[in-house]
Amino acid sequence: MSEGVLNKLELRLGRLHARQRLGIETDHEAQIFGQGINFFHLENWYSIHSVIRTMLKLLGLYGRGRRNAEQIQIRHNHVGSKILPKQFDGFTLLHISDLHVEVSEGAMRRLNEILPGMTYDICVLTGDYRGATFGPFDAALEGLARVRAHLKGPVYGVLGNHDSIRMVPELEEMGIRMLLNECEPISRGEEAIYLAGIDDAHYYRVDNIEKAAAEIPEHAFSILLSHTPEVYRQAAHAGFDLFLSGHTHGGQICLPGSIPITLSSVLPRHMGAGPWNYSEMVGYTSVGVGCAVVPVRINCLPEITLHHLQRI
Ligand SMILES: [Fe+2]
Repeated sequence: MSEGVLNKLELRLGRLHARQRLGIETDHEAQIFGQGINFFHLENWYSIHSVIRTMLKLLGLYGRGRRNAEQIQIRHNHVGSKILPKQFDGFTLLHISDLHVEVSEGAMRRLNEILPGMTYDICVLTGDYRGATFGPFDAALEGLARVRAHLKGPVYGVLGNHDSIRMVPELEEMGIRMLLNECEPISRGEEAIYLAGIDDAHYYRVDNIEKAAAEIPEHAFSILLSHTPEVYRQAAHAGFDLFLSGHTHGGQICLPGSIPITLSSVLPRHMGAGPWNYSEMVGYTSVGVGCAVVPVRINCLPEITLHHLQRI
């Protein structure tokens, strides 16, 4: 990595956060590529794709799964709050999660068709832009730039466990304000709500909710973006009112009745997709718009979500 990118990241995130994230990324890649001793892990990784593909073909599900992966649903989630400022009654967030751009060509094509006709105030992206958890990210950024061109108004994002911290300078150059354990007020007239975001808490575990929440006034309405819903307890007890996440893909390949085989998370099953509550906090887990590993969805269609805030 060039000195320039490292300097930019250290200035942007602080020396410790930048070095922790980069250090764990380097360890992760070394593990996958067998540290030059063997390629066992890499072969293993590639075999997952073909094993799943072959199994689905044998079951006669592959073609249907591929078509499902392009059928993006527009879901609506209504969030009522007594402390929402009047100016924000009706405020709408477009939530897009888990694009996995290079694996999800058909879904990206469809997403770019849908986006121009949508109405919302801000857009939030809850991570996993890249297909794999390692390796090049140029194709992911190119595909994301095409999506970004169709988004209106301010766009905010967090990183997922598939993303490299090295993507941050280019993400911000394309006009996505990345929230890396940070918070931004959104103002309307004299009133404001607070939007915070954390770095990946699932694999990298460099999330810092305390830091993200530090500047939020005690009784203000606040939203936390986190790639994974797994930190729901920490978010609720830090006083967040709304928690938006992704990561689980809702299982992606599910049994009839949308019952996930795995959520790839340590999480109560009911928090794996859609709206939920914990303590005083309202949460939402998007099943995502893209696919991981294979571009297939069974009994779990992709989604983008409109969260409508309402003062009650
Ligand atoms: Fe994902």
